[in-house]
Amino acid sequence: MPTDPMRTDKKARKPLPPGATLGVLGGGQLGRMFSQAASKMGYRVCVLDPAADSPAAEVSALHIKAGFDDPVALAELAEVCDAVTTEFENVPADSLRFLQNSIPVSPMPEAVEIAQNRNREKTFFKEHNLPVNRCAAITEASQIAAAFESMSGKAVIKTARFGYDGKGQQVCTSAAEVESAFAEFGGVECILEDFVPFDCEVSVVLARDIHGNVETFPVVENQHINSILDLCIVPARVPAAVLEKAQVIAASLAEALDYVGVLAIEMFVCGESISLNEIAPRPHNSGHYTMDACNYSQFDQQVRTLVGLPVARVDLHQPAVMLNVLGDLILANGFDWSNVQSVSNAHVHIYGKSEARVARKMAHINLLGDNVASLMAKAKSLKQL
Ligand SMILES: Nc1ncnc2c1ncn2[C@@H]1O[C@H](COP(=O)(O)OP(=O)(O)OP(=O)(O)O)[C@@H](O)[C@H]1O
Ligand SMILES: [Mg+2]
Repeated sequence: MPTDPMRTDKKARKPLPPGATLGVLGGGQLGRMFSQAASKMGYRVCVLDPAADSPAAEVSALHIKAGFDDPVALAELAEVCDAVTTEFENVPADSLRFLQNSIPVSPMPEAVEIAQNRNREKTFFKEHNLPVNRCAAITEASQIAAAFESMSGKAVIKTARFGYDGKGQQVCTSAAEVESAFAEFGGVECILEDFVPFDCEVSVVLARDIHGNVETFPVVENQHINSILDLCIVPARVPAAVLEKAQVIAASLAEALDYVGVLAIEMFVCGESISLNEIAPRPHNSGHYTMDACNYSQFDQQVRTLVGLPVARVDLHQPAVMLNVLGDLILANGFDWSNVQSVSNAHVHIYGKSEARVARKMAHINLLGDNVASLMAKAKSLKQL
């Protein structure tokens, strides 16, 4: 078998035909929606995930039940599949490197490694002149006082790795508070970020194909509750100049990474200026609106870039508001899906998780309509259901 087909024969590579098998590392809801998009295009999907029942395996042809670093399972995946992607950003980069020796892998391990560590991520942004707020790596308690002193008086300490939904981070207003949070996190590598007094948060999801063509989806405005994404608004309610700047920054980041696949970029907006928060080397919760509001979804683009097809040009059919449905809601008294499913133009996507838990993402709802103001009103009344 040729070595590194993704890199050496990029231009010569012919798209994989329908009937080919695509691997996905991770069995969560992102893997499930990837699998659904792939099957629509005639591909079979093989999921690698240690859980016996997972949202992705439930809708896929094959499931290898093993850990992401299991050498036997990885060899089997390489044998069974014609190309592999990931839905889970903490997959070991060495597993991707191993797979890359025999089949195309996107995104590439180098980009995944950057996204896995907040310090690497911020260093990469700075090296490529991408806008980023003040921050400092913290590997020892002795670095904290000077780092805090260089900031505005309010800062966020975050573990460099494995954070999600605001876990492993704390807002602090003194160096002493940062020190105790650092100790509480077990003294693991952290980053200290100056607190950004943002007007709003936005994200850009994009796809870049093996030929280097980039297609960005419309900019999304993101609202969080308890650090978990609650609601997404498209188009984002920011000045046109900010929309354009966000897409330009996102595309140049993808170029700088020589990225192939779907990439999500989270940003803070202050007036007309933007600073980068973090990236995810995969489809993103804030891109779920694309499933109903666009001609192609972020998962369609993930399949296309993986099989070697050109990225599709994207159009937004209609403004959209996406609502996340957490386990809390499903556990609440009297919760009934049919209430939501009876609302017109509310597209419900249920992930098939066996158990609802507090703060667990169970489903999302895409509301489509003529304008964002009426969609926000509809979202509010839907929440009251
Ligand atoms: N430097 C900062 N200044 C102000 N607010 C911040 C800062 N960093 C993070 N936040 C807030 O905390 C939220 C979560 O932070 P971040 O995106 O870094 O963490 P995460 O755990 O990876 O979250 P997710 O999994 O939702 O992307 C951000 O969306 C933002 O609302
Ligand atoms: Mg985030």
